[in-house]
Amino acid sequence: MKNEMIIVLDFGGQYNQLIARRVRECNVYCEVKPYTMSLDEIKALNPKGIIFTGGPNSVYDEASPHYDKEIFNLGIPILGICYGSQLMAYSLDGTVETAPVSEYGHTEVTVDTTDVLFDGASEKTVCWMSHTDYIAKAPEGFKVTAYTPVCPVAAMSCAERKLYATQFHPEVMHTKEGMKMLSNFVYKVCGCAGDWKMDSFVDSTIKALREKIGSGKVLCALSGGVDSSVAAVLLSKAVGRQLTCVFVDHGLLRKNEGDEVEAVFGPNGHYELNFIRVNAQQRYYDKLKGVTEPEEKRKIIGAEFIRVFEEEAKKIGSVDFLVQGTIYPDVIESGLGQSAVIKSHHNVGGLPSVVDFKEIIEPLRMLFKDEVRKAGLELGIPEHLVFRQPFPGPGLGIRIIGEVTEEKVRIVQEADYIYREEVAKAGADKNLGQYFAALTNMRSVGVMGDFRTYDYAVVLRAVNTSDFMTAEAARLPWEVIEKVTNRIVNEVKGVNRVLYDCTGKPPATIEFE
Ligand code: XMP
Repeated sequence: MKNEMIIVLDFGGQYNQLIARRVRECNVYCEVKPYTMSLDEIKALNPKGIIFTGGPNSVYDEASPHYDKEIFNLGIPILGICYGSQLMAYSLDGTVETAPVSEYGHTEVTVDTTDVLFDGASEKTVCWMSHTDYIAKAPEGFKVTAYTPVCPVAAMSCAERKLYATQFHPEVMHTKEGMKMLSNFVYKVCGCAGDWKMDSFVDSTIKALREKIGSGKVLCALSGGVDSSVAAVLLSKAVGRQLTCVFVDHGLLRKNEGDEVEAVFGPNGHYELNFIRVNAQQRYYDKLKGVTEPEEKRKIIGAEFIRVFEEEAKKIGSVDFLVQGTIYPDVIESGLGQSAVIKSHHNVGGLPSVVDFKEIIEPLRMLFKDEVRKAGLELGIPEHLVFRQPFPGPGLGIRIIGEVTEEKVRIVQEADYIYREEVAKAGADKNLGQYFAALTNMRSVGVMGDFRTYDYAVVLRAVNTSDFMTAEAARLPWEVIEKVTNRIVNEVKGVNRVLYDCTGKPPATIEFE
């Protein structure tokens, strides 16, 4: 049976996947499609509804993305959000202008609770606004269903044509009753039954992978982190021993991690797959010698990764597909689509242009981290693996600021091990999204015994986050930080100072490089 589907039509906004995710949270399958997708292609997908996203442009600029007006006549319910709402108004001969007053952030909006979109919402409700243009006049046949003191059409609807629009963003958490509004759209306007669950994702992905791969050979980049582990198990369930997982020990792993990964996925482990461990430590240290620039380090590590795979693939014989555990935040932060490049994430921006495989498969590309975990549980992966902390592809390479050396790797491994051990022992890890130690490239003066020292500073990071797109610094108990600090300076040679990172994301990122 095919699931009912909502399409999110992407006009370049920041929250496109978030909209899709919120719809999935309503138990309705949802995919993001580019606005360049033709009307016929959309019709062929037979969506129950379409959501137009926000975007950075002005609808009245010729060069801005527009869409064939015929879409509004298909009888398919449409919800326009922000730019999408303006596009709806503009296409149907309403008026869109630069607003005299821009609105950003929390805004109290007065809504018409008799409108189906706002059914069950409070008359005055806090919404997240972010716009410089606004709909000055709704198109004929539309009624205004929400406003603010400076935004006359904060929402509008034409129930007969099943067209709805909001100037604000119902998908973000800051819009207090946003989930109610999206759920109203999905259920009460589109008439969805809610036939989608994470196990549907797992089943349909396994089925789709089987169809795509046929009898082909698959190579999987396994790092032992949550994402690549879930990707590997999906593939193992889909094609069993057609899958070979290559685990590269690049010498930038956490302490003991190589052996732990081998224990789970290796020949004595739980899964039906071929497992190859490549010990490439020295090769990486050589390549990274003298390199200090973060993007360059990331690119070198990413490129070397692919080289190792290519070599392994050649040994195995013809390999058709390369599987990667790329997840959604990696995709947007690497600047694919319309967003700005924050970091070249391993497996995405770091890919060299020539890859010796027929195709790359990224089964988790549309999921957020917590959705990946849910899929992992559905797949029966042990909890300690599913809830394992995320670990970036470039590993300790991006937790050592500046040049990477074997000695620095040892320092950060030891410090991180102590940190994790103490945090877990104190039970302080329960609500942490991620926590780890990193090595600054700062050395400073200290005194140990009667001697002057001139050693490195280790920095401790701990953040609360669920989607890894934003995060706040965690308030770890001081006693834990104190204990960790004492142990690190006493036990890890080369460290005489420990710092705690109090910065959130934004403005910082979770990793240091
Ligand atoms: P940032 O540092 O961008 O990290 O705030 C967000 C999340 O992504 C992880 N991360 C990576 N994961 N390849 C990965 O697979 C990478 O290159 C990479 N860089 C960061 C990071 O650990 C955090 O969970």
